[in-house]
Amino acid sequence: MISEFNSNKIRNEFPILQRDVHPNTPLIYLDSAATSQKPTQVIDVIAEFYSTYNANIHRGIHKLAEEATFEYENSRKKIADFIGASKTNEVIFTRNTTESINLIAYSWARKNLKENDLILLTEMEHHANIVPWQILASEKNIQIQYIPVNEDFLLDIDVYKQYLNQKPKLVSFTHMSNVLGTINPAKEIIKLAHQVGAITIVDGAQAVPHFSVNVKDLDADFYAFSGHKMLGPTGIGVLYGKEELLEEMPPFLGGGDMIKKVTFDGFSCNALPHKFEAGTPAVAEAVGLGAAVDYLNQLTMDTVFAHEKELTEYGYTLLSSIPHLSLFGPKPEHKGGVLSFTYADIHPHDIAETLDQIGIAVRAGHHCAMPLHLKYNIPATTRASFYIYNTKEEIDQLAASLEKVYKIYG
Ligand code: ALA
Repeated sequence: MISEFNSNKIRNEFPILQRDVHPNTPLIYLDSAATSQKPTQVIDVIAEFYSTYNANIHRGIHKLAEEATFEYENSRKKIADFIGASKTNEVIFTRNTTESINLIAYSWARKNLKENDLILLTEMEHHANIVPWQILASEKNIQIQYIPVNEDFLLDIDVYKQYLNQKPKLVSFTHMSNVLGTINPAKEIIKLAHQVGAITIVDGAQAVPHFSVNVKDLDADFYAFSGHKMLGPTGIGVLYGKEELLEEMPPFLGGGDMIKKVTFDGFSCNALPHKFEAGTPAVAEAVGLGAAVDYLNQLTMDTVFAHEKELTEYGYTLLSSIPHLSLFGPKPEHKGGVLSFTYADIHPHDIAETLDQIGIAVRAGHHCAMPLHLKYNIPATTRASFYIYNTKEEIDQLAASLEKVYKIYG
């Protein structure tokens, strides 16, 4: 648990939390599932990159290029350690989780899947883990099935086991839902998939920022996440892949850095991880992500998770007690710091707009999980999401403000 003292200290390390969003209206930021705020430590590292050693990497033979290359690769090492990857060449820098999953769909899946093969997804996926497979399915006549979400907002593992009898080639699922907050039993899902020979992809965009993830312990074949949700900058994401899979995959994008040799007749690929990093990469962003990892390591992921658990339990109990408010998501013991809800028949955009006037930032809409909302026959939800800098007092203010919203629209 983060003590009040530490909580204040952490908040002071985030410059954006010191601002007013309207006159005399401080920011209460409850939208970290969309993107997290950034501590000074990360902002300074990015500024330092541009101020003192900005250069392209893997190309120049000069001091700045050497320093930039070192820091970029050092960041990769920090990330590999952070997620328990045994080799740095299993960590590919991408732009975000979406690009990481698309990379697998374009490269691994185009090579390895054929007509009538089955892909298993879940009903709680973000569009980034649905649409790339739908594109592929329409090209190759591949089948897609969705593991259902049960009445407790958990994956129905019995139905999953039945689907496994159909011998899917790929099982791709979110580690933690960005709408329900459900934390899925990733290790069990992967183990069952491997028993029928399926390859597994985990969308870890909402997991890696919030709790300790070890890709080796999970035995994940691929694991994708984004830097900007874990205190890092936008424009940088990660794809972890088992070396033997990445080695046999064709390249995704062609261009500089991903080649060993090019002639007018053809090319040969560079070694991992560069094979999948065509063009000048997001160097400053990668270095910034390394600083974010340092920051999280200093706190420890166990502390991060414990703090969020406390906030989630508190928020769940408080919001559950508000008349006409319905929470979408499992009980706190099965979820991370995301509370999505409907409130009477007030449109989520009206809720979010009214909360914004009070300084509270939440997200309203389908949260890029339209099929999940269609399942519940609702166009949108309002979502409050928590991170290390949030406090119980902010959740109290959310609850009190929701009562004001009801007075206006209810
Ligand atoms: N996927 C992000 C969210 O859930 C953008 O808000």
